[in-house]
Amino acid sequence: MPDAPSNDAPYRLINDVEFGDEVIVYSFTNLYGCTIGDRSRIGTFVEIQRGARIGTDCKIQSHTFICDGVTIGDRVFVGHGVMFINDKVPRATTADGGLQSEDDWQLLPTTIEDGASLGSGAVILGGVTVGAGAVVGAGAVVSRDVAPGAVVAGVPARQLRSSAT
Ligand SMILES: CC(C)(COP(=O)(O)OP(=O)(O)OC[C@H]1O[C@@H](n2cnc3c(N)ncnc32)[C@H](O)[C@@H]1OP(=O)(O)O)[C@@H](O)C(=O)NCCC(=O)NCCS
Repeated sequence: MPDAPSNDAPYRLINDVEFGDEVIVYSFTNLYGCTIGDRSRIGTFVEIQRGARIGTDCKIQSHTFICDGVTIGDRVFVGHGVMFINDKVPRATTADGGLQSEDDWQLLPTTIEDGASLGSGAVILGGVTVGAGAVVGAGAVVSRDVAPGAVVAGVPARQLRSSAT
């Protein structure tokens, strides 16, 4: 397993990342403690947090944020500026006014199954599964599971069609 992406690019922070073969990472990315599978491509201004897993042959477009608890399968397309969420009730501080620590909130895991596509600007709330081959429309807010192959759009996301083909 390589310990770096296969391309050179200036201005990128890469720390403790498990890379597959032939991974491409563009400039101005912030990747730490995550896993990225073979041949996946990571666009500019993408942040991928510790604990996130990206499968093989994925395309992650610019300005996307992928947080801890997110598992992305193989051949998944993630559009520009997609936001993942893993904390349903975020707080800066605890009830007694101290800064929140890792123990003070509950991580909600999210799964994007093989071959799914997430449109630009989509927001994926924590705890959902987007089924294999499903398509999430641009700007959608996904708050419930999406069935395999379905096309969803809107806020909150609702099914437009049961099949993308
Ligand atoms: C969701 C999507 C796949 C639907 O495509 P489609 O099946 O061809 O749908 P249509 O264009 O025929 O639209 C069907 C209806 O859904 C609405 N709609 C389509 N996309 C929508 C979206 N993203 N959000 C809200 N409503 C949407 C249309 O306005 C239309 O409504 P109407 O029947 O009341 O007029 C597509 O519009 C989309 O958002 N794709 C993502 C594109 C993207 O983000 N690419 C990223 C890189 S460029």
